[in-house]
Amino acid sequence: MHMHRYEKWWLTLGTGSLILFLIILGISAFHQGHQPPSAKAYVNPEQVDKIAPFNEPGLKKVEGKTWDYELVFVASAFLYTPGEIEIPKGSTLKITATTKDVVHGFEVAGTNINMMLEPGFVSEYTTTLDKAGEFLIVCNEYCGVGHHTMKSMLRVVD
Ligand code: CUA
Repeated sequence: MHMHRYEKWWLTLGTGSLILFLIILGISAFHQGHQPPSAKAYVNPEQVDKIAPFNEPGLKKVEGKTWDYELVFVASAFLYTPGEIEIPKGSTLKITATTKDVVHGFEVAGTNINMMLEPGFVSEYTTTLDKAGEFLIVCNEYCGVGHHTMKSMLRVVD
């Protein structure tokens, strides 16, 4: 009789500790997260086409913000949307970008604009374009057979 009570007690304690351990593990994993520093928000990569603002990629003029234009940019293997952007010189541009599949790069050749686009995350970059010209947007993260074909064009016009 005595032994039976102790066994039950140990069993309860063991199960309880295991549950507690799993809870702590779950909480700490959740708090640490895996969010890269450049990413500000989460987006389901499979739903990118349906979720605002990514359901409408492109350039938009905005009012009452510290930037003049917003560019919503979507990368996928092996395509950039939009494939061409034209913006007046001197404009401040806020770029909001994500990827629908694997990791892609977003590098504007000849500028210091360089972001990594990671599936599930929203990357942002704000910059003032004070040099006119044509700037190629290229993928600088190897993403597969079509990696070198990923291009978009940023035209800064006077
Ligand atoms: Cu996309 Cu390399």
